[in-house]
Amino acid sequence: MAALPRPAGDPPAPAIAERHGVDPACVFAANGSNEVIQSLCLAYGGPGRTAAVFEPTYRLHSHIATVTGTAVAAGGRGGDLALDLDEVRRVVVDARPVLTFLCSPNNPTGMIDSPEAVAEVADLASGLVVVDEAYGDFADWSALELVGPGRPVVVTRTYSKTWSMAAARLGYLVAPAEVVSQLERVALPYHLDAVTQAAGRLALRFQAEMQARVGAIVAERRRLVAGLEALPVHQWPSAANFVLFRPLVAGGQAVWQGLLERGVLVRDCASWPGLDGCLRVTVGTPDEDDAFLAALTEVLEA
Ligand SMILES: Cc1ncc(COP(=O)(O)O)c(C=O)c1O
Repeated sequence: MAALPRPAGDPPAPAIAERHGVDPACVFAANGSNEVIQSLCLAYGGPGRTAAVFEPTYRLHSHIATVTGTAVAAGGRGGDLALDLDEVRRVVVDARPVLTFLCSPNNPTGMIDSPEAVAEVADLASGLVVVDEAYGDFADWSALELVGPGRPVVVTRTYSKTWSMAAARLGYLVAPAEVVSQLERVALPYHLDAVTQAAGRLALRFQAEMQARVGAIVAERRRLVAGLEALPVHQWPSAANFVLFRPLVAGGQAVWQGLLERGVLVRDCASWPGLDGCLRVTVGTPDEDDAFLAALTEVLEA
């Protein structure tokens, strides 16, 4: 199958490549990182092939695999919700996945996989290892450093989180150039419209402002975590812009309702495997976080 024409206009790939210090041929941009994931599944998955995921994790990895006819092998994480390399080995040996999805920082746990863990998964995996770094800007290391020629690691990123551009629908992947060539074969001709391309290029001129915002959110995350430490909840270490926690003295649903009645909306994560009673709070402004901590204290004392 021949590669279809590259997007018309002035695509953001060279500017993205410059941001990450890679060759533009190693960048594939699409309408959101979900479309990048769909392109990966179209190019590498399909009937008779399998993608591996490790639950609890971002639901769209298995959903997109399924809608592209790719079977899903779902492994679990350890009791502490960290990636369990023995489980990765078991799933990878058993299912021989063409795509192994990691999510780092993981949605919804916020936990990050170490460089050693990602490198080991890359050694174990039979196909591509896709590291979804939608929240990567909030973390202190990136699997981008593991991407290189002949290495089966690819990293997806999005403008939806740190750039606050979810509605613009722009995401991308950094990968060996041969992977990008495969993705260009399945992308529709001219799939990125001119406005999205321009927005993607323009945003990158404001990196200093973006980094300042990320720095403020990370500092605020530390304050939120310290506030939660003083309350009867279990929380998981977060490298993202949210924190997962489980109330220890009341059910998750009752706490969710109590917070709502006090004007605070958090995410109920009970429907994820292994996250019974868990809630996820997004780092807000200092005032929002104070309001959340005050409301949570009240609910847990009630
Ligand atoms: C881990 C993860 N990956 C990807 C996405 C989707 O990003 P996009 O808006 O770029 O499709 C999300 C959105 O919530 C996410 O949490």
